[in-house]
Amino acid sequence: MTRFWHGYADMSLVPGNEIVVNRGEGVWIYDTTGRRYLDATAALWYCNVGHGRAEIAAAVAGQMADLAAYSTFGFTATPPTLELAERLAEMSPIEDAVVFLTTGGSDAIETAAKLIRRYWNAVDRPEKRIIVTRELSYHGMNAWGTELGGLASNSEGYGGPLVPHVVHVPTHDTGAVADLFEREASHIAAFVGEPVIGSGGVVPPVEGYWPEIERLCRAHDVLLVADEVITGFGRTGRDFGAQRYGFTPDLIAFAKGVTSGYAPLGGVLIAPRIREPFWAGKAMFRHGYTYSGHAASCAAALANLDILEREGLTARAAELEPILAAVVAGLANLPVVDATRAAGLLAAAVLSEEALQEDPGLLDAVVRSAWDKGIITIGLRGAYGVLQISPPFVITPSEIDHMVDGLAEAVAEVSAERGFG
Ligand SMILES: Cc1ncc(COP(=O)(O)O)c(C=O)c1O
Repeated sequence: MTRFWHGYADMSLVPGNEIVVNRGEGVWIYDTTGRRYLDATAALWYCNVGHGRAEIAAAVAGQMADLAAYSTFGFTATPPTLELAERLAEMSPIEDAVVFLTTGGSDAIETAAKLIRRYWNAVDRPEKRIIVTRELSYHGMNAWGTELGGLASNSEGYGGPLVPHVVHVPTHDTGAVADLFEREASHIAAFVGEPVIGSGGVVPPVEGYWPEIERLCRAHDVLLVADEVITGFGRTGRDFGAQRYGFTPDLIAFAKGVTSGYAPLGGVLIAPRIREPFWAGKAMFRHGYTYSGHAASCAAALANLDILEREGLTARAAELEPILAAVVAGLANLPVVDATRAAGLLAAAVLSEEALQEDPGLLDAVVRSAWDKGIITIGLRGAYGVLQISPPFVITPSEIDHMVDGLAEAVAEVSAERGFG
């Protein structure tokens, strides 16, 4: 029996089957029985600098010894909060950005959505209410994020819609966006998307997608929001996915890689245009979280950004991209793998739709078999059944081979056992 209700879990299956991990080093994690696993997903896409970084632990401990946290509502702040805001503004592809800090990615999306609505009200355009989002997208689990997400299974069963004025467009179809903007622009507040769709199955954009979306947003005065919760802080080989795919958003939501998960933190980078009515005294954004700008979390972020920079880990992610892509491409030779995808240190093996229809338990069985072989992957179920591959940036080429060999063995073994190819 466990008293812990796991997120995203079928709790009829978990009791008695928990894997309890208590130590990590680089790309490796260890469970309480001493078993070692290669963390092929960097936990939930966040551990960019790898596990076991004593330097981040020391920074957090030092900050906690001085002052663990203090409210940042109103006039108060802490030194690491202000330092982090400066640092993020400097890194940001948005010129002259300011930062609103949150406790994670869902809060960042909620903050962005509320700020968008508040902004259009503040500039006397309250009719601009619709937020446009993509099929297959994932934007966290608060009410707005649940509604914005483009994975039906996550938003069904709540008697929704949870929030109104959300419109979904097909994942890659800029023509559908152009038509919608043409018809409805005066009511459209913003377009929100992940530079590379993550939880929906690791789906990179089609060629030219983001510059065209940016052009349409500018032409119709629609705000552009990049959800960089996964792609931020080096995952695509650039600091932000927007830089990699050639566009400049008005708002960037981030979380995960900003601390590599060493402490919970997220936020939104905000362009001057959107800040203006609020910073010029025309309106107030009555919004914030108890732990917005939490001192110890900001100290973790600063130490994490130091490591990323000093060790050149974002450039390393770019260098490893072709190596990872080539090795992962080999998985497509296996009987139940239809295709593979890769962008930066994000990759996926896509299981055959036919095989999954015939045997819906196939994806879980492959994931479980990979764990048994010491490789932690996650099965993503967007429109596809996909094996997630998003290791820490410190992975070496030989660890990439080891990781993908383990996944290949798991796929081969399970597909043979279940009578495929
Ligand atoms: C693109 C994207 N946005 C938002 C979120 C939500 O972040 P969090 O789980 O930190 O609330 C996630 C989490 O996976 C994500 O991948």
